[in-house]
Amino acid sequence: LRHFLTTEGVDPRLLGRILDTAESFAGVLGKSVKTVPLLRGRTVVNLFFESSTRTRTTFELAAKRLSADVLNIAVDTTTTKGESLLDMLRNLQAMQADMFVVRHHQSGAAEYFARHVDPGVAVLNAGDGWHAHPTQAMLDAFTIRRHKGAFEPLRIAIVGDIRHSRVARSQIHAFNALGAGEVRVIAPDTLLPADIDSLGAQVYNDLNAGLRDADVVIALRLQRERMQGALLPGESEYFRHYGLTESRLRGAHPEAIVMHPGPINRGVEIDSALADGPRSVILDQVTNGIAVRMAVMTMVLGVQPDTPREAS
Ligand code: CP
Repeated sequence: LRHFLTTEGVDPRLLGRILDTAESFAGVLGKSVKTVPLLRGRTVVNLFFESSTRTRTTFELAAKRLSADVLNIAVDTTTTKGESLLDMLRNLQAMQADMFVVRHHQSGAAEYFARHVDPGVAVLNAGDGWHAHPTQAMLDAFTIRRHKGAFEPLRIAIVGDIRHSRVARSQIHAFNALGAGEVRVIAPDTLLPADIDSLGAQVYNDLNAGLRDADVVIALRLQRERMQGALLPGESEYFRHYGLTESRLRGAHPEAIVMHPGPINRGVEIDSALADGPRSVILDQVTNGIAVRMAVMTMVLGVQPDTPREAS
């Protein structure tokens, strides 16, 4: 694994190894052991051009638990001086950065960085436009595997704004590669992407039909920052048709788990009773993000003794 930019087209064995490596970190790190020295002397640069609570902080925590030095760049103050992305990258590389963690509002931004970094420097995509959010998909897969075991029998339903969601795209590719029995998307046509038929998901417009017998239900928020006028549904109308509630979950498998990548909008895509209830594993997802990001960070730098280098 040279960079980690997408889950699309990645060898399923490699995705499985990310999960296994994350499992080993989750097992080692706890209350007594806080850090391991695997990335001591390495420098990780967090470059966030878009806001983030969970991704940025769990990448930072993951790097610190691996004993790396971490730089969090205030991108706005740099770019307003007129510096190009490429010049910024060259300057940060001159400080001997080993890894860039990039979030950007434009699809393809992380790939652009990956094309221009020096050999041996890794780029991790922390979310680019509508395109991909691969570590989110992997921490979701990790959470599902921990709660449900094997992927093969699972029906996984993703509900909400699929059209603008880099998370949904990365999840669909990852879950299918890992062998999920069925991946469903549930949304009105206006919130489905034009290429939905080629993504590898069963499409449902009706929430109750899509939830039937589902083992895993993932809610997504309405990504208003990426919507224009006509597409923007009213919140109460959206909740009436697509909001997840305890009563709507009755059609799912009795032991279905409820997930959300965050940030959640209570009363819009999910009811508080469900988000905070016993089926919810939403905060587990956040915790699991640390171990999964540790796994990816060690694998791209090839520092894990039993993790050989591979081409991405
Ligand atoms: N899930 C996710 O990407 O959340 P943040 O925007 O807070 O990083």
